[in-house]
Amino acid sequence: MKKALITGITGQDGAYLARFLLEKGYAVYGLVARRSSCNYWRLDYLGVENDVELIYGDVTDQPSLINALEKSEPDEVYNLAAQSFVATSWEQPVLTAKVTALGVLNLLEALRITKSGARFYQASTSEMFGLIKEEVQCEHTPFHPRSPYGVAKLYGHWISVNYRESFGLYTANGILFNHESPLRGIEFVTRKVTDGVARIKMGRQKELRLGNVDAKRDWGFAGDYVEAMWLMLQQDEPDDFVIATGRTTSVRDMCKIAFDYVGLNYEDYIVIDPRFCRPAEVDILIGNPEKAKEVLAWEAKTTLEELIKMMVDADLDRVADEPGR
Ligand code: NAP
Ligand code: GDD
Repeated sequence: MKKALITGITGQDGAYLARFLLEKGYAVYGLVARRSSCNYWRLDYLGVENDVELIYGDVTDQPSLINALEKSEPDEVYNLAAQSFVATSWEQPVLTAKVTALGVLNLLEALRITKSGARFYQASTSEMFGLIKEEVQCEHTPFHPRSPYGVAKLYGHWISVNYRESFGLYTANGILFNHESPLRGIEFVTRKVTDGVARIKMGRQKELRLGNVDAKRDWGFAGDYVEAMWLMLQQDEPDDFVIATGRTTSVRDMCKIAFDYVGLNYEDYIVIDPRFCRPAEVDILIGNPEKAKEVLAWEAKTTLEELIKMMVDADLDRVADEPGR
């Protein structure tokens, strides 16, 4: 039986990846940072909380990573842990660098120290393209990150490439464009919108305050994207891949899709609030997933309309379950 260690297993992607690997017959271990209250709700939502083995650890604490590798003896390591919210990276830039940049180095070094032969997946990101240098971004598009988060991820990306080139480690970087789901954190714009739509529809909220609604993103479904992570580690040679849908949509049009779905006009509810604008914005992202299609035989399956419908439905159910005012 193959064994996988996932850092960030309590996050959106970690939960979907854990379920995916369990379905493939893997023994799944998850590194969990100690928090004052339990945050296993995503694993619980997918019904896998009792099927994974959790090991306490933190990517800023290298001995805990060595311990996790020794306990799990994995064939594959998926490094999904990060301070992943772009807006917070301006408020906590040093923490973001320690977790999102140096955390990658800590884990790569732990792999070297333990002489683990595990294949390593690094969660790279389209945020590294930032101020885009090509209209459609692919594996060769130059990077220009626009946030402390993007800069930290760029370090993680290159140190992962460097350990491949320097030490022959099997490291693969997935340059994933935005991907969402009912398990998305509430602070990210799609989930903020689908939660807001559900609350407005059910009379619990009157308006939805947003920042830059002209920003455009290439949004896919997280459930589709975790398969691409796994496929990357099944190749004979390690490599880097863009994972995207190839379609870009503005925040405004995404709002329209969500409000239309419940029969409301988004223009009646959206309020622009400068508090949600960023010091430097990534105006538009659109990925070219051709290499993933050719080499991995991977393609996004879920349209943005299907994704938003799935998320609104989940939020309508959640709001209905909340006690009324
Ligand atoms: P997420 O929901 O924010 O999950 C992040 C995970 O990292 C959580 O499990 C979190 O634990 C954990 N974590 C944070 N700090 C840690 C630390 N110091 N040590 C150990 N674990 C720590 O993010 P996601 O959306 O699933 O994304 C997964 C990865 O892909 C991230 O690296 C993200 O930057 C990257 N990525 C995401 C997207 C996207 O659109 N979702 C696109 C490209 C790349 P707690 O639950 O305890 O906080
Ligand atoms: N969060 C948020 N809240 N974003 C808003 C809002 C708002 O009220 N109003 C407008 N936006 C805009 C942001 O300015 C940004 O341009 C866009 O909506 C998407 O924001 P997020 O959903 O927060 O995601 P992100 O694109 O910044 O980052 C996500 O995707 C990256 C991949 O490109 C995160 O998951 C990152 O971890 C990931 O690397």
